[in-house]
Amino acid sequence: MELVLSEYHQHRQEEFRCFADSELDQDHQFPHQNLIKAGNRGYMGLPIPKEWGGAGDDFLTYILMLEEVSKVCASTGVILSVHTSVGTFPLLYYGSEEQKKRFLPNLSSGKLLGAFALTETGAGSDAAALVTTATAVDGGYVLNGSKLFITGGGEADLFTVFATVDRSMGRTGITAFLVEKDRPGLTAGPPEKKMGLNRSHTAEIRMEDLFIPVSNRLGEEKAGFMIAMSLLDGGRIGIAAQGLGLARAALEFTINHLKQQEHAGVNTDQSSAFIIADLAAKTAAVRLLIYRAAMAKGSGKRCTREAAMAKFMATDLAMEAATKCLDLCQSAGCGVDNPLTRYFCDAKAPQIYEGSNQIQRIVVARELLSQKNLSQL
Ligand code: CAA
Repeated sequence: MELVLSEYHQHRQEEFRCFADSELDQDHQFPHQNLIKAGNRGYMGLPIPKEWGGAGDDFLTYILMLEEVSKVCASTGVILSVHTSVGTFPLLYYGSEEQKKRFLPNLSSGKLLGAFALTETGAGSDAAALVTTATAVDGGYVLNGSKLFITGGGEADLFTVFATVDRSMGRTGITAFLVEKDRPGLTAGPPEKKMGLNRSHTAEIRMEDLFIPVSNRLGEEKAGFMIAMSLLDGGRIGIAAQGLGLARAALEFTINHLKQQEHAGVNTDQSSAFIIADLAAKTAAVRLLIYRAAMAKGSGKRCTREAAMAKFMATDLAMEAATKCLDLCQSAGCGVDNPLTRYFCDAKAPQIYEGSNQIQRIVVARELLSQKNLSQL
């Protein structure tokens, strides 16, 4: 497998870097302007085929874009990742022709913002334990229940909602539905107050006697769990790219700070140099893990293990880099408005969402323990 970026990918990487550095704003509001700019450049539907209004790029290019955007604004990064990986791909992979025509062009252009509604109070890591119900009625289903920590929350236009048609069936009763934000019975709570990623709104959504026509069911009845899991494989590579962007941002800030100190006559001591070298080596290794996962995903093969590894390694590295860089920069890094403080606060949620890093390790270990041939270790 080729792990050095092609000329094309290097060229696109440079384009994304310029876009992120010069066009993204970093104020404290939901980043509408960033999303409009991203939409104008085709980044809201980067890996979606042109026939469906996307840019028709490959998955690796999309991941390079998320990394560069997240380095500058990790909130915009997670919004773009969720919108595409688990907000738009559901339609592309599992939508009927009619559903694709109805939603894909508008999702690809950014006219609609997509969201993914799986998590519940008692069903976070154990997604199969969800209790939101979909009761079959004439012409469709009635949904009742609530979903927690939904990225996009009150801002999103289209939710892929997972509900059970038969609670006694566990995960095999779970079914996926496309729910437009203006459906009677759907309400979104206020944005959660979080420690980081504050420009990305996260909210509860509630469904009360919400009627959904059969034409809004995504895929077959009872196929929802597999749909959710397969989508999360792609989603986790996006979150890994977000972690890599954050780790790079923290490291770059710190190296620049140490350089300035040296310029002022304060030499970098050996223990600081070791920390910087370790973080740089880990960043390079994580980058390869992510590109490998992205290439596996782009080739169409199942990439559950590659995605899980990339996700936990990259987001753990983001937290480690932010923490150690704060230690190194000390008072130069920990002011409330300092970028390092923001990286530190932003790095926590990626270790938790789209499957906590503990769950990622379980996924990897389970797969390895069930394999006879370990030559790909
Ligand atoms: N692709 C395709 N099929 C898959 C799959 C995948 N990635 N993962 C599992 N499956 C299939 C399995 O092959 C299996 O099929 P068979 O029954 O035919 O063998 C079936 O699904 C059940 O798989 P498991 O035995 O692994 O299921 P489990 O109940 O033990 O669950 C789990 C495993 C990995 C813990 C899973 O529950 C999980 O990933 N939990 C985390 C959930 C999560 O990531 N939530 C994040 C929500 S989104 C978010 O954070 C916020 C947001 O806004 C985006």
